[in-house]
Amino acid sequence: MTAPVTWTVLDLLRWTTGHFQKLGIATARLDAECLLAHALGTERLRLYLEFDKPVEEAERARFRELVRRRGADRVPVAHLTGRREFWSLPLRVTKDVLVPRPETETLVEAALALLAKDAPARLLDVGTGSGAIALALLSERPALRAVATDVSPAALAVARENAEALGLADRLELREGFLYGPVAGERFDLVASNPPYLADAEAAGLAPELASEPPGALFAGPEGTELLRPLAEGAGELLSPEGAILLEIAPAQAPAVLGWLHAAGLAETRVHDDLARRPRVVSGRRARSGGDA
Ligand SMILES: C[S@@+](CC[C@H](N)C(=O)[O-])C[C@H]1O[C@@H](n2cnc3c(N)ncnc32)[C@H](O)[C@@H]1O
Repeated sequence: MTAPVTWTVLDLLRWTTGHFQKLGIATARLDAECLLAHALGTERLRLYLEFDKPVEEAERARFRELVRRRGADRVPVAHLTGRREFWSLPLRVTKDVLVPRPETETLVEAALALLAKDAPARLLDVGTGSGAIALALLSERPALRAVATDVSPAALAVARENAEALGLADRLELREGFLYGPVAGERFDLVASNPPYLADAEAAGLAPELASEPPGALFAGPEGTELLRPLAEGAGELLSPEGAILLEIAPAQAPAVLGWLHAAGLAETRVHDDLARRPRVVSGRRARSGGDA
């Protein structure tokens, strides 16, 4: 393409979309828009009102660098802009947290179906990362209080920042530690977790973008289920009578995780599909007869 003398917003979007498409980036146009909006300090949808506006050299230089890092280094857009929307909440993300995924909204939807609108309830979010799950649920349920844990202090700092920015920090307690360790002996009405569930050997075949995400947020060990299994097996002791657990999984893990929930004495076990109809979440409920009342 011959470079125009003056680059407008639309010129830059067209050129960059083509460039990203050639590199095999599936969301080429969306990525171009997000990065240009970030370079110009504006909102993505405002670009549509400014297609003919010339872009100055200093702004183009900022944009070029973002395009280079997206195209050549395959850094995810969210890590370049420092922001990702999840459940319509603007979340800050850094290299210390997983970029929240749309499939995790399946877990949020399933959780909301279990949480009455105004009834007080206690949530545990294990492996909270950016805080995505806990914050989405707190934003929807005003009487909900949550404990969110992570092994990564850096991730907890991001979750804290997000909770404060969203005005939800007074109902969220953040604790550092391994799986259920930080909440031993406590009871929750809902336990939710999107733990690392990839097997180590899967690293080779993954999209290059995943190299920018913390390995500790993605990989569980040789099997992939090293964290899902203790989360499922230990749920019975943490759930209040009729409390429920929701775990995000890779589709092939559904039968094994359902089996562990059954073995832990949970009832009403089921699988929830994502929008692409893949099994993404398993859930189970503690029967009232299962212990303390
Ligand atoms: C897949 S990310 C999910 C982040 C966030 N909940 C979300 O859905 O976007 C998994 C998170 O679990 C944390 N994690 C890994 N191992 C853990 C463990 N043994 N105990 C608690 N958290 C753990 C990671 O640091 C990471 O933040």
